[in-house]
Amino acid sequence: MSFRNYKEKIDEGDKVILYLSNNLYALEVQREIKNKKGEMIENVYQTPFGALKVKNLIGAEYGTKIELTKGWGHILQPTPELWSLTLPHRTQIIYTADISMIMLQLDLMPGCVVIEAGTGSGSLTHALIRRVRPHGHVYTFDFHEHRAKIAQEEFQQHGLGDFVTAKHKDVLAEGFDKDLNGKADAVFLDLPSPWLGVPHALSAIKEEGLQRAETGLKCGSKHNVNSWPN
Ligand SMILES: C[S@@+](CC[C@H](N)C(=O)[O-])C[C@H]1O[C@@H](n2cnc3c(N)ncnc32)[C@H](O)[C@@H]1O
Repeated sequence: MSFRNYKEKIDEGDKVILYLSNNLYALEVQREIKNKKGEMIENVYQTPFGALKVKNLIGAEYGTKIELTKGWGHILQPTPELWSLTLPHRTQIIYTADISMIMLQLDLMPGCVVIEAGTGSGSLTHALIRRVRPHGHVYTFDFHEHRAKIAQEEFQQHGLGDFVTAKHKDVLAEGFDKDLNGKADAVFLDLPSPWLGVPHALSAIKEEGLQRAETGLKCGSKHNVNSWPN
């Protein structure tokens, strides 16, 4: 659940980032894991600096320096930026420099409703979720059924399930869900032949969304930017 909120201490079940001499590794804090025979055994994570007994992390503070037999490292809280550098690659992904530009160009902020396709490895999705929460929502689609399923499980494991819906769908052939028509503040496509998705994006985007760039209207509000509270 460590993606959801900043916290002081590491709990069992957290996803944490191990920083070891400029290398980053994501690991789940579980006392035990299954071995190849399906038996539960102590979770010992092998690193280039030696073995880490994962149970020793439980209760430690984020940022803690950990000693290993051949060196030391730090345990960090996951952020979308660190996740993009450590996530399991199921596809090519978008990295932080491009993600920053995407956020800026889409003028995203808390409260926005965003549609994304394809979900891929969820790199962009994690950043979108952080940007639109707590009142906004990300609807993300992928035509690869397994990828869509794994992504939804991952969002759930990360404590982000309230802010995102991942679905299996060919959005170029079928469009987005009909009940999203006129609801989206922004649509982002990272898939082959994205121009085929433009008519569907036009149906999904809300009227104010189309005017946002010209009028300064902000997500989730009909107020002008000048009257938006700080
Ligand atoms: C490059 S990956 C997206 C990576 C993602 N932006 C990230 O940062 O992790 C492209 C994804 O688009 C999906 N895709 C391709 N064509 C699609 C379509 N017509 N409808 C939905 N998903 C599609 C692929 O299955 C693949 O997972």
